Amino acid sequence: MSNPSLLILPGDGIGPEVMAEVRKIIDWYGTKRDLTFDVSEDLVGGAAYDKHGVPLADATMDKAQEVDAVLLGAVGGPKYDSLDFSVKPERGLLRLRKEMDLYANLRPAQCFDALADFSSLKRDVVAGLDIMIVRELTSGVYFGEPRGIFEEGNERVGINTQRYTESEIDRVARSAFELAMKRDKKLCSMEKANVMESGVLWREVVTKVGEDYPEVELSHMYADAGAMQLTRWPKQFDVIVTDNLFGDLLSDLAAMLTGSLGMLPSASLGAPMANGRPKALYEPVHGSAPDIAGQGKANPIACILSFAMALRYSFDAGDEATRLEEAVNAVLADGLRTADLLGEEGVQPVSTSEMGDAIVAKLD
Ligand code: NAI
Ligand code: MG
Repeated sequence: MSNPSLLILPGDGIGPEVMAEVRKIIDWYGTKRDLTFDVSEDLVGGAAYDKHGVPLADATMDKAQEVDAVLLGAVGGPKYDSLDFSVKPERGLLRLRKEMDLYANLRPAQCFDALADFSSLKRDVVAGLDIMIVRELTSGVYFGEPRGIFEEGNERVGINTQRYTESEIDRVARSAFELAMKRDKKLCSMEKANVMESGVLWREVVTKVGEDYPEVELSHMYADAGAMQLTRWPKQFDVIVTDNLFGDLLSDLAAMLTGSLGMLPSASLGAPMANGRPKALYEPVHGSAPDIAGQGKANPIACILSFAMALRYSFDAGDEATRLEEAVNAVLADGLRTADLLGEEGVQPVSTSEMGDAIVAKLD
């Protein structure tokens, strides 16, 4: 059987710096665990614009459609701020998401023990936390028609429309149930079925999909109550599935339960391909951080954990993902910190590449 394939798009700013550390991890899996990937690398964002005059070349797009997973660093930077909207670096990322039809956005909130005091919540509330928010990404109120600002009588009215078809709910619910099967088999769906018809349909369809996953314990919660429960006792959840708007808010809220932007991975998944794997794009939540680019200050962990997500959700290598997450935890427990995580007593400041090397050493 051929090796699983991975397309790496480092992008701009700190993107290439954090991706260099992921390459060390990928090499480790190849030599030490006999888990070899066919890795190809290409340009996205400003880097692609500099070479091709577009933020994503057609050939790169084609390649992204063929591989088992795409891993992206970050795009953008001040150098490109004055470009026309149609060729801005962000358009490269948007094109990938759109053409791969990535409708399920996965944002974990995971607390590494060594960083539990970094949270704004009590240690007890966040220590050991490991939850996943699945946000519908391609429909809902950000896309529904009619939308716009219209004249009505002698004043203007601003309109956006929350709109979900049954098939849009069905497919994101399936992604969430599949994830729950790979995790603790517990799924909570959040909407506002008490005041929104789209929420009533959402609840109905998710319940129906649940019949195909009898092993998963399904619950429903109104999204506002969900926000309260997420801050009160987040460990009651495993996987949460919700719409685009509520997911936007709840995933940011959940992410900050555990701390720094430099620690946050993400994935965007689409429909299953012929080989059964979902279309997938993995990327850190952070941007290109031009303020620290080129200085060896970037925290590579968000990108490394994005690769761990790829191991678990694209490559059926959940044990290897856990191994990598444990290596990250061990390095943090030793007190190693990149610049974004400094502030406690007795920690040891390290550079981007020292952090990557330390994680590889822990894997050994
Ligand atoms: P940003 O996420 O790049 O940076 C925000 C702050 O967090 C900065 O102070 C930065 O130094 C720090 N930071 C971010 N990641 C870090 C890491 N791994 N280690 C240590 N510190 C880190 O967001 P910002 O400054 O709003 O945007 C900068 C550029 O990135 C813009 O061009 C923006 O459009 C682009 N961007 C790209 C994204 C993507 O590629 N997915 C997402 C967000 C922004
Ligand atoms: Mg947001």
